[in-house]
Amino acid sequence: MEILNTAAALQAYTENARRAGQRIGLVPTMGALHEGHLQLVRAAARECEVVVASIFVNPTQFNNPDDFRLYPRLPEEDAALLGPAGCTALFLPSVEEMYPQPTILRFDFGMLERVMEGEHRPGHFNGVATVVSKLFHLSRPHRAYFGQKDFQQVAIVRQLVRDLSFDLELVAFPTIRESDGLAMSSRNRRLVPEARTLAPRLYQGLQLAKQLVQQGHLPPAEVQQAAGEFLRAEPAITLEYLAVVDAHTLQPLTEWQPGSPVAICLAAHLGGVRLIDNVVVE
Ligand code: PAJ
Repeated sequence: MEILNTAAALQAYTENARRAGQRIGLVPTMGALHEGHLQLVRAAARECEVVVASIFVNPTQFNNPDDFRLYPRLPEEDAALLGPAGCTALFLPSVEEMYPQPTILRFDFGMLERVMEGEHRPGHFNGVATVVSKLFHLSRPHRAYFGQKDFQQVAIVRQLVRDLSFDLELVAFPTIRESDGLAMSSRNRRLVPEARTLAPRLYQGLQLAKQLVQQGHLPPAEVQQAAGEFLRAEPAITLEYLAVVDAHTLQPLTEWQPGSPVAICLAAHLGGVRLIDNVVVE
């Protein structure tokens, strides 16, 4: 596996691959890799001859300085995991390399970002769209792999691809979970044992909501309330939001729309760590 530290090296590497007729898969990450990330890399390796994973803790998408400062950074461990998973090149740039000067361009995703993560983390999706656009331009992938774990991020990137005519296929990959249901996340490393024991409750709350949606007796607001009550019953969990939304528009549902998928998304704080998760009901 090659390690590329500059934008120019990434461009040259992927340009060569393109000229050789190879398909390029891109897996953008912020590192502290876990099985969820590695499954994206393995999927890319099944479908593309060249697989570029990026590791960059992107400052522009953090609205909380402590979250940015405390975000786990383990480049050596990560690099050792990527090769065996099928990654052919790791792009590991510095902040100065990605942002030689502050960006002026601002993204506005309208209603897609007025809810959930966009509402609670102002500027977050502007930072995501900025760095993802840079990665797309530099590597010009045929396929780009993202996890459904970040449900709203997938919707934002899909819109970005459409609106800016990126010539690539976006692959949305299912959420990989621990055996007790907790969605894998780099931030799980920051959970102290007690918080880690309680963390599966988030997924249990989502499962409860999913069952209620499938039963179809309660309107969306009451499903939201029931799942919220279940989660708030644990004092160590501070629920930031739990939203029952249309899976395409991400807008909160006031009534069920027959035939259109529903997403239940949440963010919660547990032992000083902010976690997100979601389930989709088809
Ligand atoms: P990060 O949180 O490192 O996640 C990188 C990719 O892995 C994202 O597409 C995310 O959805 C996916 N992922 C994370 N946990 C997962 C899980 N349990 N199952 C499946 N996929 C999972 O998301 C980001 O980084 C950043 O916002 C980024 C897109 C890299 C832009 O900076």
